[in-house]
Amino acid sequence: MTRDLRPGGKAGLRLGVNIDHVATVRNARGAGYPDPVRAALMAAEAGADGITAHLREDRRHITDDDIARLSAELTVPLNLEMAATDEMFAIAMRHRPHAAMFVPEKREERTTEGGLDAAGLHNVLAPMVAELGAARIRVSLFVEPEARQIEAALRLGAPVIELHTGRYAELAGDARAEELRRLADAAALAAKNGIEVHAGHGLTFDNVQGVAAIPQLRELNIGHFLVGEALFVGLGESVRRMRELMDAAR
Ligand code: PXP
Repeated sequence: MTRDLRPGGKAGLRLGVNIDHVATVRNARGAGYPDPVRAALMAAEAGADGITAHLREDRRHITDDDIARLSAELTVPLNLEMAATDEMFAIAMRHRPHAAMFVPEKREERTTEGGLDAAGLHNVLAPMVAELGAARIRVSLFVEPEARQIEAALRLGAPVIELHTGRYAELAGDARAEELRRLADAAALAAKNGIEVHAGHGLTFDNVQGVAAIPQLRELNIGHFLVGEALFVGLGESVRRMRELMDAAR
């Protein structure tokens, strides 16, 4: 299926909606609903420029069947979030998503904690980045806003990085402002070296605008808050409001 890579609104900042937690609610009861694919289609209809889904090793939320259905039914690009394992690499090569985003993964964590050690994992990542790239899948590395990780991404030839905004989201006051500066510096360094820069984790209506204002950013990936807010206002409204706040911040 041809998927349209949207420019990301007037401001050139795409919104990727992560639908993992629709699957979390489904799996809590072992029933067939709510359906994350239906949520993905609804999010795209409401203005999401792409959909992100994390196929975890333990399949705690998104399943292999969800990835197959997303691959078949989505009209916007799919960003497959995954650990750097042989199993996930094979799945990405089979489904050929628009993008494959490598994240660190620990079984016991509640969500992705910390960025990928792109430097330490160079030898594991290098062949995967090269082969996915040759298959025209855009590889993204989820990293902390640190120069050494960006340098490692450059050595790997990764076309995209996603900066981890989890710390920014947890902090307040001066500490948050300082973390925002680190994110802005990292975005500038990566963009200057030709890497496309995305960001995500822990973003909400209240904290998104500081990040969205960083001019080098091309995409934000947001999930947990949007799915939670959908309980109160509906998923379409939740996505539309996020899109408006992002556009207003540029
Ligand atoms: N980006 C990455 C790499 C993630 O692991 C996650 C969480 O799955 C997100 C973005 C979205 O984070 P949140 O669900 O907190 O919005």
